[in-house]
Amino acid sequence: MSGVPTIGVFDSGFGGLTVLRALTERLPQARFVFVGDTARLPYGSKSRRTVARYSAESAQFLVRAQGAQFLVIACNTASALALDAIEDAVPVPVLGVIEPGASAARAASQTGDVLVVATEATVQSHAYAAACSARGLRALEKACPLLVPLVEEGWTEHAVTEEVVRIYLDELRAEAAARGMVADTLVLGCTHYPLLRPVIERVLASGDAGAVRVIDSAESTAEAAVGLLHAQPGTRAGAIAETEIRCFATDSVEKFERLGSRFLGRPVGKVELLDLGG
Ligand code: DGL
Repeated sequence: MSGVPTIGVFDSGFGGLTVLRALTERLPQARFVFVGDTARLPYGSKSRRTVARYSAESAQFLVRAQGAQFLVIACNTASALALDAIEDAVPVPVLGVIEPGASAARAASQTGDVLVVATEATVQSHAYAAACSARGLRALEKACPLLVPLVEEGWTEHAVTEEVVRIYLDELRAEAAARGMVADTLVLGCTHYPLLRPVIERVLASGDAGAVRVIDSAESTAEAAVGLLHAQPGTRAGAIAETEIRCFATDSVEKFERLGSRFLGRPVGKVELLDLGG
């Protein structure tokens, strides 16, 4: 890899922009190309085979058509189900969000007991449980399928969302207690969930189960990406004046432009329509 790196970032929708945001905070003078496969979202309710095919197509677009030299899979479901398929599909280094999230949980947890909230597919794969177990942690995972649509609807601060979060977390903590776990860490195992972090932290604080630290895998993934990039010979992040971001969406660019800035923390600019087929 030589010169300013082009970093491809991929998600099934907008949520991965939370990872892009964390990346741009750490690499303010790099070039990023983001693909949100909004036409085929949600991935979280689909099979491994379908998620692998969709993810490989986006990865190939980023590498072949956009010249990405490094890929960050900013989608927990794609990372959990399709990392191998993506690595097979492109000749560049690929980083998913699961391993960095599990490492951050390891660093945060004193008790060694960790809770994970994620999509149905991520939970079914038990990718977090395996990554946590490899680090000596016990993880209890829970699918929270209503949260992605609530975030997509823009209901990040809404009484309904708070009630749904409360129900999920109460169930999760009751199950953890029944298993004798003393969980002190909650991993947000879906790239949409960082938008709900204030609500989640409020709900956790209102419980009587002791302090629980929230881990956002976007932050830990960005840190891991910076480490990997700096290890690549010839990389010169910093050789351009400011962050360059190009965003592609496979469905309504208007919706992406409207909602995307909320995830990215700045205007997403002009979003380009991408047709990846069915
Ligand atoms: N991006 C997905 C994830 O992080 C959530 C949205 C979806 O189900 O496609 O798991």
